[in-house]
Amino acid sequence: MKARPDGKTVQQMFAEIAPRYDFLNHFLSASIDRHWRRIAVNRAGVYLEDRANVICLDLCSGTADLAIELNRRLQVPVIASDFCHPMLVRGLEKVRTAQRDAAITVIEADSLVLPFAGEFFDLATVAFGLRNLEDTDQGLAEMKRVLKKGGAAIVLEFSRPVVPVFREVFEFYFHNILPHLGAWISGQGSAYRYLPTSVRRFPAQRELVTMMESVGFTDVGYRNLSGGIAALQWGVK
Ligand SMILES: C[S@@+](CC[C@H](N)C(=O)[O-])C[C@H]1O[C@@H](n2cnc3c(N)ncnc32)[C@H](O)[C@@H]1O
Repeated sequence: MKARPDGKTVQQMFAEIAPRYDFLNHFLSASIDRHWRRIAVNRAGVYLEDRANVICLDLCSGTADLAIELNRRLQVPVIASDFCHPMLVRGLEKVRTAQRDAAITVIEADSLVLPFAGEFFDLATVAFGLRNLEDTDQGLAEMKRVLKKGGAAIVLEFSRPVVPVFREVFEFYFHNILPHLGAWISGQGSAYRYLPTSVRRFPAQRELVTMMESVGFTDVGYRNLSGGIAALQWGVK
């Protein structure tokens, strides 16, 4: 299996697809990605229910879809961070269009070395970002470091379909059709070849639970989404 690309390569890849990123996300997933983000926000809401003066961090926020959904539904301030400038520029445009710039702050930062003091956030979310980090454990450890005690981490990520037959059909689409469609529409072949490869390399549901526990999260759990195409994983500091 190919080695993970380094941060610079990932940054460059997202810079190149940034103009078509949102369209392709929704098109290639038949907009199911929006539904998954809504489920992530539902889960976040459960953790924030009893907390006052809440502040949230959405890492690898890209074009800020999850940050906007968190703020829209839960009325909480959100810091949306990412290390890819063109993705953040799109994100900031969307934040402004949604008139949420008073509550959502967009910052350029590497998720592996977050520029925040420890114990700062009540919630740390990451959607389709953890898989792209050079070091998954380090990413989880940074999430834990910046969370207050009792704060929650929520990870939304592609995972492993669990239903036989459906799994084979999906894997065929994901590995043989999606890379061509993505390359054709974005004009950028490598990013959509990288997508299935990175998912294959990323820990499956239970393995990610173990990793989260190893970095010190408690009450770790997961829920399969759309038969395990994606999974929502969570843990508490
Ligand atoms: C697939 S996109 C996900 C964007 C967004 N969260 C969403 O749900 O659509 C992955 C994002 O992770 C970002 N990323 C990857 N590695 C990163 C790192 N080390 N630090 C910050 N952002 C990173 C990329 O720049 C990209 O915007």
